[in-house]
Amino acid sequence: MADHDSGSKKPATQAVTGGRRKTWTGAVVNPPVFRGSTHLYDDVAHLKDGLKSNDDGHFFYGRRGSPTQWSLAEALTEMEPGAAGTMLYPSGVAAISCSLLAILQPGDEVLLTDSSYDPSRSFADAFLKRMGVTARYYDPLIGSGIASLFGPKTKAVLMESPGSLTFEVQDIPAICQAAGAADIVTLLDNTWATSRFFPALEQGVDITMVAATKYIVGHSDVMMGAVTTHDKYWARLRRTAQQLGQVVSPDDAYLAARGLRTLEVRLRQHEASALEIAHWLKGRPEVGLVLHPALPDCPGHELWKRDFKGSSGLFSFELKYGDDQSRAAFIDALQLFGIGYSWGGFESLALPVDPRKHRTATTWSASGALVRLHIGLEDPEDLIADLAKAFEYYHSAQS
Ligand SMILES: Cc1ncc(COP(=O)(O)O)c(C=O)c1O
Repeated sequence: MADHDSGSKKPATQAVTGGRRKTWTGAVVNPPVFRGSTHLYDDVAHLKDGLKSNDDGHFFYGRRGSPTQWSLAEALTEMEPGAAGTMLYPSGVAAISCSLLAILQPGDEVLLTDSSYDPSRSFADAFLKRMGVTARYYDPLIGSGIASLFGPKTKAVLMESPGSLTFEVQDIPAICQAAGAADIVTLLDNTWATSRFFPALEQGVDITMVAATKYIVGHSDVMMGAVTTHDKYWARLRRTAQQLGQVVSPDDAYLAARGLRTLEVRLRQHEASALEIAHWLKGRPEVGLVLHPALPDCPGHELWKRDFKGSSGLFSFELKYGDDQSRAAFIDALQLFGIGYSWGGFESLALPVDPRKHRTATTWSASGALVRLHIGLEDPEDLIADLAKAFEYYHSAQS
């Protein structure tokens, strides 16, 4: 394969070809695992030469990566229209916190969606607070109204759309327009959609982040985060990540790149199966709200229709009249859904979730008990049969 620009290719092709430079792959298909801390130089002149460039693609020292990591970062950059580069981090949480650290300084204020992933909140409320940064939360449905929250110290907005647990879809273009007009930096946790279903930079976002742990890796066996940005913030993001010593192992980068090659077919199957199951759940008498962005129950559904190119495999639903005990009976009865954190792998998962615990700017008013499902790559008919059986246990626990 020649080394060439894949900017004009379709996303599925980019996922297959991205980062596979001949100089990095040699004679094999995937860039091999280049393990190494020390990179060796021919002589002192060569060593001095190494200091001249801080870009990917130059051997320098293990912390600056090797072809295995460069290749993955390049593929992710190619898949995000408008991107200048991608930094890799050892987890999604590291990606989020390092991005915020790249932008914020003492005295600043950051606005976060009230539907934020809980560790994002705790980073802001605990760590950033100690640093002298104030965190304020906004209603995820605020749209352009966010401008009314901007003050002289507001420096950044951290969005997540759809939101964790409750899946509200935000008006990202409107928020970015308002923020841009006030010189405020916008960051998006885009883990649910990835650049495939929501090309964030094109929609006005400055810094887009994914927990690659989920759909990029796709096999529930690696932790990783990735942050992609345009020219304006690229050097700053990269410098901060380097100052904070962020690096991913070549073994993990290899596995993530292997996952990336099949992202398109996996996402399409997660999408189709999750939609089938969400619609089936909507028809069940035990179910209240189905919080799937592609279903009208979900706040912001119209924005999803306007802005997204697809939906993935994660959503929540409300067990009508459900309490903690009957919800536990339902989840415990599932045979094909694992009980555990994370999502985005090939296997289905179920989790009891309680958004009320985390909210500060809005209240969560649905009365039933929420269950979050990740729909994996099993046959959806088997998953539906499993859910149907679990409803029997749900009824028994209620009577
Ligand atoms: C929306 C979202 N963002 C970020 C993360 C953090 O990713 P990681 O577990 O890789 O730190 C998660 C993990 O569940 C998540 O659901």
